[in-house]
Amino acid sequence: VTERSGDDTITIVPIDKGNWERAANLQIMPEQAGFLTPNVFSIAESKFYPELNPCAIYAGDTMVGFLMYARDRDDDQYWVYRFMIDRRYQRRGFGRRAMLQLIEMISALPDAPEINIAYDLGNTAAAELYKSVGFIEGGIAPWGERTAKYTIPSAPGEARLP
Ligand SMILES: CC(C)(COP(=O)(O)OP(=O)(O)OC[C@H]1O[C@@H](n2cnc3c(N)ncnc32)[C@H](O)[C@@H]1OP(=O)(O)O)[C@@H](O)C(=O)NCCC(=O)NCCS
Repeated sequence: VTERSGDDTITIVPIDKGNWERAANLQIMPEQAGFLTPNVFSIAESKFYPELNPCAIYAGDTMVGFLMYARDRDDDQYWVYRFMIDRRYQRRGFGRRAMLQLIEMISALPDAPEINIAYDLGNTAAAELYKSVGFIEGGIAPWGERTAKYTIPSAPGEARLP
C-alpha cells in the first residue's frame, strides 16, 4: 500500500498563545548555538517591542522552524532578526523555501525596498542559503556580524515586463 507522503507546503504563521511553547522548544545543533538567540528569548522580546513579528515555520502541519522580522525603527528598513530550522528538519530545503516565502511576504508590505539580515562570520550555512536566494553580502555590522541585503525588484502590483 502506498501512503501519501503528505503535504509539506511551507507556511509562515504568527506566534500566538497556541503555538509559542512549541516554537520555544525547537532545537538547533549544539555547534550552532552561538549563531542564534534562543527562541524563548525572541518571543519574550516581542512582547515588549510590538514592531517585532515572531513567526513559526510550518511544513504541512509540522512546525519546523522559527523566524522574527521587523521594520527597524532606526533605518526604516525590513530586517530578519531571527531565522532557524529545527535540527531534526535541517538540510531538507525548508530553510530556503521559508526564506523565499518570507521575501514574498515582506515584498507585499508597503514601502519595502529591501530586506536586511546579519549572521555570524562563521555561519557558512546561513551565508550560502541567503546568497542562493538573492541576498548580496555587505559590510560588518557594529555588533560584529556580516550583513546581507536583498533588494526587492519592484513594488507589488507594478507591471513586470517580460
Ligand atoms: C541556516 C539554517 C536556517 C538552514 O536551514 P536548512 O533548512 O537546513 O537549509 P536548507 O536545507 O534549505 O539548505 C539551503 C542551503 O543552505 C546551505 N546549508 C544549509 N545547511 C548547511 C550546512 N550544515 N553546512 C553548509 N551549508 C548548509 C546549503 O547551501 C544549502 O543548499 P544545498 O542543500 O543545495 O547544499 C539552519 O542551518 C539553522 O537553523 N541553523 C541554526 C540557526 C542559524 O544559524 N540561523 C541563521 C541565523 S542568521
